[in-house]
Amino acid sequence: MKAAKGMATLIAQTHDDEKKPRSLVPPLHQTATFYFNTIDEVQKAFSFESGDYVYTRGNNPTLRLLEEKITALEKGRDGVAFASGMAAISSVLLSLVKPGEEVLFHRTLYGSTYSVGKELLPRYGVKTHFVDLNRLRAEDMAAYERVKVIYFETPVNPNLELIDIRKMAALGEIIGARVVVDNTFLTPYFQNPLELGAYVVLHSGTKYLNGHGDVVAGFAVSKDQAYIHRLKFNFMTELGGVLSPFNAWLILRGLKTLHVRMERHQANALAVAGFLKAHPGVDKVHYPGLTEPVIAGQMRGTGGMITFEIKGSLEESVALVESLKLFRLAVSLGDIESLVEMPSAMTHFGYDADTLEEFGMSLKMIRLSIGLEDPADLIDDLTRGLEAGR
Ligand SMILES: Cc1ncc(COP(=O)(O)O)c(C=O)c1O
Repeated sequence: MKAAKGMATLIAQTHDDEKKPRSLVPPLHQTATFYFNTIDEVQKAFSFESGDYVYTRGNNPTLRLLEEKITALEKGRDGVAFASGMAAISSVLLSLVKPGEEVLFHRTLYGSTYSVGKELLPRYGVKTHFVDLNRLRAEDMAAYERVKVIYFETPVNPNLELIDIRKMAALGEIIGARVVVDNTFLTPYFQNPLELGAYVVLHSGTKYLNGHGDVVAGFAVSKDQAYIHRLKFNFMTELGGVLSPFNAWLILRGLKTLHVRMERHQANALAVAGFLKAHPGVDKVHYPGLTEPVIAGQMRGTGGMITFEIKGSLEESVALVESLKLFRLAVSLGDIESLVEMPSAMTHFGYDADTLEEFGMSLKMIRLSIGLEDPADLIDDLTRGLEAGR
């Protein structure tokens, strides 16, 4: 029997085992289609009897290797790669609900996910609810009998609230709803939602998984292999959000250092969050590593994302953001370079101002994606920025 491999070994090694030539780095299959010699071969491939490849919008060896790697890291049975995190999110939601059914979302979500729940699903007859999942109790579930999916991020983008995955799975069980978790912020290195009762774990692969800011990608992984087969061949291939083999190859390369990067993102984030918390001009700092882990056994780390609010006005917050030199003003996160953004004006633009405040995101909230630079330089940049913001 093969010994189970540790997380760092799973991350560091990717081989197309025993296929000749035994290239240490997996090859890039940059092809749209695959050819056959006979119709018999074709039929066996189309009926999944042979496992032969047909067309890259259904399957490709480079994509498959990446899907298997993400699946192993997330401790699932199978997974699908998508052209973006949003392709993964919208395909998974469409695959799990029908007209007349409902979805229960945590109220604070990445902006485009909120739009899918607020605008897109209702157009197809799916009712959506946006609630504070941290206040949901077993007694409330009777009101949600038609809900088929409970959907959330943890930590939440942008305000870094944590949601108890095991508790949500237990509440979902009361009404027969499945839990879908967006694990983009922590990655499988720090958190494995499927081990805690989630049915599907989702990723924007654009972020830490690739890590180098040069690819847009998404993933969905589950322990239910039959579901993943359906998701891939009835949703990914039909809606068409396939990842390009070249982007898959780049992620296979970037992914090899995930553990090393995540540890350093976290160490730098802890230093920056501590600095912000002690600064007299800062009102609130949101970083899970600053408080005791509130959910026992859920996370193995607290990641590299921080949000904060200064005591000054919205205009002063804008001045601060614009004055930073090392932190680049940009959406996205999880890159080697540090990034800064204002959710109300950028990633969460889809929420109106009143809803932002109501759902725990202030207009002047500033979000930092802490990169791999020297923490002293990042703190220096913020020190000068906080002066400019006064
Ligand atoms: C938590 C989270 N989920 C999903 C997405 C969407 O991913 P993508 O931009 O790869 O489509 C993002 C993008 O920022 C995100 O932050």
